[in-house]
Amino acid sequence: MATKTTIGEARNYIGESVTIGCWLHGKRSSGKIQFLQLRDGSGFMQAVVVKNEVSEAVWEAASSLTQESSLYVSGVIREDSRSKIGYEMTVENVEVIQISTDYPITPKEHGVDFLMDHRHLWIRSPRQRAILVIRAQIIQAVQQFFNERGFHLVDPPILTPSSCEGTTNLFQTKYFDEDAYLTQSGQLYMEAAAMALGRVYSFGPTFRAEKSKTRRHLIEFWMIEPEMAFVDHEENLRIQEQFVSHIVQSVLQNCRKELETLERDTSKLENVLAPFPRISYDDAVKFLNEKGFEFTWGEDFGAPHETAIAENYDKPVFIERYPTSFKAFYMKPDPQRPEVVLCADLIAPEGYGEIIGGSQRIDDPQLMEQRFEEHELPKEAYAWYLDLRKYGSVPHSGFGLGLERTVAWICGLDHVRETIPFPRLLYRLYP
Ligand code: 4AD
Ligand code: MG
Repeated sequence: MATKTTIGEARNYIGESVTIGCWLHGKRSSGKIQFLQLRDGSGFMQAVVVKNEVSEAVWEAASSLTQESSLYVSGVIREDSRSKIGYEMTVENVEVIQISTDYPITPKEHGVDFLMDHRHLWIRSPRQRAILVIRAQIIQAVQQFFNERGFHLVDPPILTPSSCEGTTNLFQTKYFDEDAYLTQSGQLYMEAAAMALGRVYSFGPTFRAEKSKTRRHLIEFWMIEPEMAFVDHEENLRIQEQFVSHIVQSVLQNCRKELETLERDTSKLENVLAPFPRISYDDAVKFLNEKGFEFTWGEDFGAPHETAIAENYDKPVFIERYPTSFKAFYMKPDPQRPEVVLCADLIAPEGYGEIIGGSQRIDDPQLMEQRFEEHELPKEAYAWYLDLRKYGSVPHSGFGLGLERTVAWICGLDHVRETIPFPRLLYRLYP
């Protein structure tokens, strides 16, 4: 048998005969020639079967192939300037593994519900493959960024006895005889880890039982959460803008073909380079009022507000120093103005909304105790967290980047449901 390779690696075998395991994505025939569109996960390639150049059996095997049939194909790799990947195969042999019948996803248009019900097959399409490849590249860029800067990867627990981001959207479950919750954020545990390892980051699934059916919300989503000892609000923002620039530039460098498949306007991504613009919550409110929005100081922004603010910039924009009243209990008040906290949300351009939420954390034990009373949090469940302010408390900051919203923005997608292999959405747990 010829050397076994993949479509992606076949570029290294120009002029040689190779074998590739693959699926039939599509086919065209002109009577004496069949053009097979093949896919194997590493890419898409055309293979040409010429009737006069192969045996009857090979011609028949190729003719029998239907959409998504599996096969081993062997032949010579030839350079071809018309091909998107620069080469194609002249087929010598076809070994059918399985003929697929009635593949439900045809090249015609399908409705979203139909595609979502067939998500396990839908991910085979060129577009969905491109998104998942970019998602994997983003994850790689995240790990590279932190590993090169002395951060340690720490894994916080998924099952927790208490909440991090308020109690309204907690997923409750039983932990033998106790009540437990699926984590909304690993942050509180990452704060403990930062006191042990200095600079840490986590990457894991988080859960929010949000009853909101929007194009930005998933029930299960993945978050990257760095936490840094001896880092203040200002330094936190500088790390975030470098981090997001690194991710975007890394996708531009490594996923050109996938961005092309998605027809992404990459000029909008090219200038995503640090530093990013900043606007205070106060100025954002003024701006919205000037734009005609009825909005009073002390309210939280909704998606239309974020979009209106982001429209002024061609890069992500930080909105900083939100009112203390509606932000999380752990955020440090601005010493000059305790009615606002040292926090920022990073809003992506082009209407993609908040991709990062972060803040400097309260390090003063008395103030933290006070917040527990104000927010009526059960001190017993958080005794360990209060210990962090008792034994060598230090200024520290961190943030959480939502992976799926980042993928949606970089890929230019209408909805987060396509950013994760098997989305968990309101009223959708299948497949
Ligand atoms: O702003 P959030 O709620 O912040 C936290 O959870 C902090 N504890 C993070 C930290 O400081 N360590 O969530 C952070 C990000 C949001 O900016 C958004 O990108 C994403 O997580 N996110 C969601 N993504 C998809 N679906 C949802 N339901 C999301 N909720 C938040
Ligand atoms: Mg937030």
